[in-house]
Amino acid sequence: MMHDDIERVLISEEELRARVQALGKEISADYVGKEPILISVLRGSYIFMADLTRAIDCYCTVDFMAVSSYGSGTVSSGQVNIIKDLSDSIEGKDVIVVEDILDSGNTLHYLFQLLDARHPASIRLATLLDKPSRRTKPVQANYVGFTVPDAFVVGYGLDYDERYRNLPYIGVLKPCVYEHP
Ligand code: PRP
Repeated sequence: MMHDDIERVLISEEELRARVQALGKEISADYVGKEPILISVLRGSYIFMADLTRAIDCYCTVDFMAVSSYGSGTVSSGQVNIIKDLSDSIEGKDVIVVEDILDSGNTLHYLFQLLDARHPASIRLATLLDKPSRRTKPVQANYVGFTVPDAFVVGYGLDYDERYRNLPYIGVLKPCVYEHP
């Protein structure tokens, strides 16, 4: 069973729900009178994006971008590939980039440079998880769900080798799963 690969639950379904609701309220208050475009960085952010957008009660639009930097390993390769670009222009728009995890900062550092060049009115970052201990690039999130320790976390969109995204909580993966695949 999938759950047997989990060492411990780090963030429960209830904690996730409460925190995402609070982030939605905060964003709604910050963007009164505006109409932000939320950009989900696939694939990891799809569940957070779905829950966060439903917790926002001002007008907003959504778009999707797919990038990959990890391959099937557990350490970032440093190479960012754009797999799917945005469908619409962000020029003059208030952009909120939605991520599942901010780790080394490599992906977001690259992405922010790319999006900045398209001249949005503003650009902010909402990340469900922040692992500041691993940061190698100067990236800071405006909205953070949870600050997490340097453990291998999966679930609620986050994967290991494309598995575990469908776990309804954030769990720490048993080392034996990635040490002896
Ligand atoms: C994860 C996550 C971020 C990135 C963060 O994506 O969604 O995009 O890694 O790591 P960094 O701060 O070290 O750059 P991943 O490449 O695992 O793809 P996925 O979203 O499809 O799971």
